Parts: sequence; structure tokens; C-alpha cells
Amino acid sequence: MKMNNGKETIIELDHIVKKYTSRGSFFGTHGNEIIALNKISIKILKGEIFGLVGESGSGKTTAGRLIVRLEKPEEGRIYLNGSEMAGLKGKGLKDFRRKIQMIFQDPYQSLNPQLSVFDTISEPLVIHKIGNAEAREDAVWETMKSVGLSPPDDFVNRYPHQLSGGQRQRVAIARVMVLNPDFVVADEPTSMLDASISAQIFNILIEMREKSQVTLLFITHSLSAARYLCDRIAVIYKGNMMELGSADQVIQKPRHPYTKALIDALPKFGLSGKVNHYNTLLPVEREASEHEGCPFFTRCRVANKTKCSLEIPLLKETDDSHWVACFYAENG
Ligand SMILES: Nc1ncnc2c1ncn2[C@@H]1O[C@H](COP(=O)(O)OP(=O)(O)O)[C@@H](O)[C@H]1O
Ligand code: SF4
Ligand SMILES: [Mg+2]
Repeated sequence: MKMNNGKETIIELDHIVKKYTSRGSFFGTHGNEIIALNKISIKILKGEIFGLVGESGSGKTTAGRLIVRLEKPEEGRIYLNGSEMAGLKGKGLKDFRRKIQMIFQDPYQSLNPQLSVFDTISEPLVIHKIGNAEAREDAVWETMKSVGLSPPDDFVNRYPHQLSGGQRQRVAIARVMVLNPDFVVADEPTSMLDASISAQIFNILIEMREKSQVTLLFITHSLSAARYLCDRIAVIYKGNMMELGSADQVIQKPRHPYTKALIDALPKFGLSGKVNHYNTLLPVEREASEHEGCPFFTRCRVANKTKCSLEIPLLKETDDSHWVACFYAENG
């Protein structure tokens, strides 16, 4: 088993490339190839909350969908506990389907409107043939309490349309957690919810990790949400890894100009007006290079126009387990 800081790796993405073809326009032009993930490598350690942060369209959901096998990569490999996932079949695949789960962004779309709360949460147990009717009922009750749907009696007979957005997301989380999974992808689970409800959902995720030692991949566009929840954070931009480190390293001592721009964009409470501390983002994008250079070149104020437009910066370790893909990470 691969070890990292004394912890085992549960999920490893190894040089993953995922491409899509856009549909093309109404007038019949050919679809363009979109590289959603460009040679992304990540090791997620058992028991951690790992944050994947980037703006919309950066490839976060794609990464989550690849891990739960809703998509297949064009290149690269994905490992679960050191075994390649692509080779899973039969019982191995069935176990995988129980152990690896995903919570989706939109609780309105992820629940079947025809199923009551009880049926929604017990259905995965039925599908995976876990326990008898009595044991399933106990498991549903326990899980409902742990996600704050309490007392369960008040909720079991309701249907999704009779629940608030926050309650629906709790049901969606319960449906995943009732299977006692080893690994959960939570894809922007609170982006459709109010801030106060979001904070409650974050606390449920933290409690879940403490109680069941589940490993979480928390996907978000918000560095402040990642800071609140995550042990480590990876920042991606247009499918490329920009920075990876502990939450403290990435947020207190960011090294990549893109991470710094994300931090500058955070609301600064208690300050009058916005203070751009790092100021690494160009107000107007510059023209793209004809060559393949740094993915952030067009928006980076720090860029050296020759070097950054001609060469792709590789991910390098700058401090202990803090990785950055920028030629000027030290002084950028
Ligand atoms: N099914 C698809 N078909 C075509 N393009 C897609 C598809 N899914 C995602 N993409 C594209 O891939 C890129 C990454 O998307 P996504 O992973 O959803 O990003 P994020 O979750 O960070 O917003 C985007 O450019 C998006 O438009
Ligand atoms: S390599 Fe150059 S363009 Fe890319 S982030 Fe660093 S300074 Fe900016
Ligand atoms: Mg997404």
C-alpha cells in the first residue's frame, strides 16, 4: 500500500486526461475538443477531507465523475487502495459501487420525486441486499438522526417536494451514508443553499468523517468553504493542477498567482472596500500565446511574456508537501 505522511492512499489519479467534444453550433460547424482534465495527478489519503477548488468549468465535476466511474478517462489511471479501477468486474465492481459514493450539487435533481424519504434512504440497502427489513429500518433511523433529520418520524413519510432545499440535501447525504461508504465525492453540495444552511451541511460532513472515518473529496468553487472543511486543497485551472498543499499552506501562504487571485476575490469582512493584497490578476486578459505555455498566461500579471508563453510550468514541491506549477512561485 502506498503511504504518504504515514497515511495510506485511498484514491489515486495518475496523469488523468479527460476530453469532451462540444456539440458544435446550430449552423453545422464541427464540435471543438475540450480538455476537461489535463494530466491531473492526485493522491487522496485515507480519512482526510480533500478539497478540489477551481472556478466553474475547471473540471471539478469531471474529476468526481471519473472517480465514481460515471465517466472514463482517455488517458491515465485511477487506483482504489492501490488497485486499478478500470479492471474491476463482478464482485469487485459491486463492492466498489457500495464503497464509493457521490453527493451531487443539486438536491432537487438527485432525489426521485416518487419515493418517500424512507424509501429513498432504504433503497440503496435493498439494492445491495444489506440487512433484513428490521435492520434496514434501524439503519435508516440512525442515519437520519446523524444528518439532522430528527425526529425521523417527522420526515420518513414525506416526499421530496415536501422538503426544503437543505432537508433534501440531508436526505441525499443520508442515502449515501446509510451504505457506510469508504469514500464520498461531495460535489458543491451547498452551492444551491443559503449560507446558514450550508454551514449546517458542512458540520454534518465533518461529523460524518469523525464518526465513520469516511474519506471525502469536497468539490467547491469557494476557497473559504475549502478552508473551513479541508485538510488539504488542490487548486485547478482549466483542467490543470496549479497548487496543492495543506489548507493552511494554500490559504495562508499561497504561491500560485491563480490561488492568490482567488484569495483576493474572497470577501474581506471588517474592511471598508475591497483590498487586493496580491494583485496577481490582469484586469484585461492578454492575447493567448501561439505556443503551449502556462495555462494561466492570459490572466497572469506576474507572467514573464517570453518564458511563460513558451513553456509549461511543471508542478514542483516548494515547501514540505506544498506543490506549485509556476516558474515564479517563490516571488510571484
Ligand atoms: N458532457 C459534456 N460534454 C461536453 N463538455 C463537457 C461535458 N461535461 C463537462 N464538459 C466541459 O468540460 C469542462 C469541465 O467541466 P466540469 O467538470 O463540469 O467543470 P466544473 O465542475 O469545475 O464546473 C467544461 O468546459 C465543460 O463545459
Ligand atoms: S508560470 Fe508564468 S504565467 Fe504561469 S502562473 Fe507562473 S508567472 Fe503566471
Ligand atoms: Mg461542477
